[in-house]
Amino acid sequence: MPPKRLLPQRVNRAPKRKDILSAEEKQLAIRNALRYFPKEWHSELASEFAEELRAYGRIYMFRFKPSYAIHARPIEEYPAQSKQAAALMLMIQNNLDPSVAQHPEELITYGGNGAVFQNWIQYVLTLQYLALMTDEQTLHLYSGHPMGLFPSSKNAPRVVVTNGMMIPNYSKPDDWEKFNALGVTQYGQMTAGSFMYIGPQGIVHGTTITILNAFRKILKPQETVGGKIFLTAGLGGMSGAQPKAGNICGCITVCAEVNPKAAEKRHEQGWVDVILYNIPELIVRVKTAQKNKEVVSIAFIGNVIEVWECFDRENIHVHLGSDQTSLHIPWTGGYYPMGFSFDDATKMLQENPKNFKKEVQKSLRRHAAVIQKHTDKGTYFFDYGNAFLLEASRAGAEIMAENKIDFKYPSYVQDILGPMCFDYGFGPFRWVCASGDTADLDHTDAIALSVMEALSKTAPPEIQLQLQDNITWIKNAKTNKMVVGSKARILYADAEGRMKIAEAFNRAIAKNKIGPVVLGRDHHDVSGTDSPYRETSNIYDGSKFTADMAIHNVIGDSFRGATWVSIHNGGGVGWGEVMNGGFGMLLDGSPEASKRLKSMLFYDVNNGVARRSWARNKEAIFAIKREMKRTPNLKVTLPNLVDDNLLKNLF
Ligand SMILES: NC(=O)c1ccc[n+]([C@@H]2O[C@H](COP(=O)([O-])OP(=O)(O)OC[C@H]3O[C@@H](n4cnc5c(N)ncnc54)[C@H](O)[C@@H]3O)[C@@H](O)[C@H]2O)c1
Repeated sequence: MPPKRLLPQRVNRAPKRKDILSAEEKQLAIRNALRYFPKEWHSELASEFAEELRAYGRIYMFRFKPSYAIHARPIEEYPAQSKQAAALMLMIQNNLDPSVAQHPEELITYGGNGAVFQNWIQYVLTLQYLALMTDEQTLHLYSGHPMGLFPSSKNAPRVVVTNGMMIPNYSKPDDWEKFNALGVTQYGQMTAGSFMYIGPQGIVHGTTITILNAFRKILKPQETVGGKIFLTAGLGGMSGAQPKAGNICGCITVCAEVNPKAAEKRHEQGWVDVILYNIPELIVRVKTAQKNKEVVSIAFIGNVIEVWECFDRENIHVHLGSDQTSLHIPWTGGYYPMGFSFDDATKMLQENPKNFKKEVQKSLRRHAAVIQKHTDKGTYFFDYGNAFLLEASRAGAEIMAENKIDFKYPSYVQDILGPMCFDYGFGPFRWVCASGDTADLDHTDAIALSVMEALSKTAPPEIQLQLQDNITWIKNAKTNKMVVGSKARILYADAEGRMKIAEAFNRAIAKNKIGPVVLGRDHHDVSGTDSPYRETSNIYDGSKFTADMAIHNVIGDSFRGATWVSIHNGGGVGWGEVMNGGFGMLLDGSPEASKRLKSMLFYDVNNGVARRSWARNKEAIFAIKREMKRTPNLKVTLPNLVDDNLLKNLF
């Protein structure tokens, strides 16, 4: 047994989790934890784990964290029988690298609760299994717990991951608290629990695409982004990408953040240009930026409602408005109420959570009311997938459309990413150079650029803009200096683009021009995720509350050649609110890899395009018809459209 560890001091630690278990359930949690260890260790570990449960609300088994540094190493350095297993070890270590992960001690990669494993013994055991496994075995991971290596075949995934799969009636936020504390489930977020998180680059690219297209929606043909204002909130893990993306798009970004530490950190890291602490200074700075059409991002320390209200009073026109506070967890500190300092609100949260909830709801009503004042004056407001509209409606804010079913404002997927990207199959494809070599990343960037440029020569007008945006992105990708941890790149591409880029990588690997490459994608994509207020919010046939697409995707990918597949409950919008899945695939230059990439990437995108087309989304109907022309083997059921007049007098 390794000796007890002293926990490092200067590490960002996860917050204490809810003390939700009864005394009897706490005994069960200890019994569950001890089943990993020989009996003779139990008495020492039982009291240690009980102490962890008391102090942190969870049992992390800190003693079992290995003493070696955890980070992605070149793939050849992993002690593995299977190269595919080595790729998994690399990606797991990358997701727990302290320079990548949010709370590395508690095995949390991002999003406050996005776990790779529940505890350190699961990490140790999983790596042992991966070191031993052959290409004819599959490791099954149940919410971080390695159930074991099962005989399979070369064509099967090496690892199958599920996170937070619950019987639907047990999927309320407190169910997560309880069953996670018992050690039987975990919150995998999106890419954390599938080992596919690559640091902030992913969110910067997605946010850039969103802001760019939002401006395109509102600007007149001759207008440019210069001098236009984008007002939003949050400078945390993901939301911190907003100012950087705003700068890439060329606008003035004003981003409010209640927590001075979060804002100062982003400022020090160069993610936001200017930091201001009071409203009069903000007004002067914004007016100057407008006059000079500056490209600048400004952090304001304070509640975002203050900024919306002051811009209303001062008649400062906000062109684009959004919000990225953590409203997927509104009652536990994700959203701070107006009228309290950050410290006072934090104190209230700890001492009087009921009151905190009341104040949050009051603020949400006020927040929605002032946004309405701006939208009446022409602001384009969109929900950026943080459950703002959902929680504002639950708080009783005037946020519903006249039909009382939809919200007044669109989600970014309804208006922007859905029709402009996902319905055509464009989504956040990504890859990691498993050699760890920057030269390989440069080489793959050049390959991707030449594939995208070739595609744009013959692509139909409907997808020219998407191709051009991504050509610009990949040209500048290196200068944006977004790489942390593994040598990774993200790029929005459709099925054809993803397959052609991957095939070109595989050829370059076969010719020894680059080392092996791991392919993957964000779960926030065309097909992998069913999320009625986010990824599938632009599905209008009633099926947005179903999760068949995500389940078909993970099953379909698994027998078409994925190296690993994963499916999660939870993710960015909250436990019980979404099903999201992803995959990883190792390219090693072999003919088998070439076969696998074509088969799997084709399905991984077109599954969702077919479903979006069946939901009558016209862009998806266009895309799937085009795909059927190209691929005679593909036969998709197409919807027949009904004349509205026929339905009017039926009921
Ligand atoms: N659309 C997408 O692609 C996408 C991607 C990632 C995250 N998200 C969602 O965005 C949200 C934010 O994610 P994150 O990782 O940045 O979370 P985070 O908790 O790290 O950051 C949110 C920040 O908002 C600040 N904040 C809270 N209330 C505020 C208020 N009233 N005024 C000003 N600032 C306030 C907090 O202090 C915090 O720093 C989450 O709900 C997440 O699910 C969406």
